[in-house]
Amino acid sequence: MKVTVVGAGNVGATVANVLATKGFASEIVLIDIKEGVSEGKAMDIMQTAHMLNFDTTVTGVTNDYAATAGSQVVVVTSGIPRKPGMSREDLIGTNAKIVKSVVDQALKYSPDAIFVIISNPMDAMTYLTLKDSKLPRNRIIGQGGMLDSSRFRYYLAEALKKAGYPATPTDVDGMVIGGHSDKTMVPLVSLATYRGIPVTELLSEDLIKEAVEATKVGGATLTKLLGTSAWYAPGAAAAALVEAIALDAKKLIPCCVYLDGEYGEKDLCIGVPVVLGKDGMEKIVELKLAGDEKAKFDESVAAARDTNSKLGDALK
Ligand code: 2OP
Repeated sequence: MKVTVVGAGNVGATVANVLATKGFASEIVLIDIKEGVSEGKAMDIMQTAHMLNFDTTVTGVTNDYAATAGSQVVVVTSGIPRKPGMSREDLIGTNAKIVKSVVDQALKYSPDAIFVIISNPMDAMTYLTLKDSKLPRNRIIGQGGMLDSSRFRYYLAEALKKAGYPATPTDVDGMVIGGHSDKTMVPLVSLATYRGIPVTELLSEDLIKEAVEATKVGGATLTKLLGTSAWYAPGAAAAALVEAIALDAKKLIPCCVYLDGEYGEKDLCIGVPVVLGKDGMEKIVELKLAGDEKAKFDESVAAARDTNSKLGDALK
């Protein structure tokens, strides 16, 4: 299988790197507009093949979409990352035009591809991709929930350690739905567990609140520390989505998809649990949300709609 990763910045290169080490793709094409960057990063990744024992071929190209032809999955990371103090939504003016142009070009050469969108503001960029490409909704998937859920597990494990339980993130199950946004993402506390035990039985309200709030600003915390947005976890999250699609794994993962009546909403893309397989989004799982979680999800929907309303101006 062939995968294209558009954008050879930190996130795009990490997606290519993680995918290569997983070894299931025969070919990964990394493409960027900056002369030589994709070529250099692809070559660097290929020079780990012997040590890391993979047979995937990673190729880098500058703006040559013909080289991406016939990709089964196209991962879009293009655009600018946020700087400290910026929200993801602040990026819409720059990134909307870039994402639209990238999707148009990639689709020309890979008409059957499933698109995984990472560029921010991700929910609006996923919606834009869907509207612009007119592809069926199962083929447009935004990556946010996988990353935010992984951060939630990390912060819950930290909270459990504070409470005296020797947890690591793999001991914890937790899901984040809603928009990939500092203010409005919805970590589902009611469903979070430590080895099957509801965390609400083990953690104080204060520790839970701390984990929830840290999860919501997880991206901003890293942006402040790094001076630019994070890449290891965002890249690994996108690679996990590609893997579930490529291997037809039917994994339940929170992803940003187009709602057409599910959760009582229509005509927007937002994070909900979905089953990912060879057709992309194969099923949306409708959860019965606890009262306050439903209210928070509704707020998140309203915020996503507000950002979508700015797309028209952003594309001018
Ligand atoms: C993040 O949350 C880049 O949006 C991404 O780190």
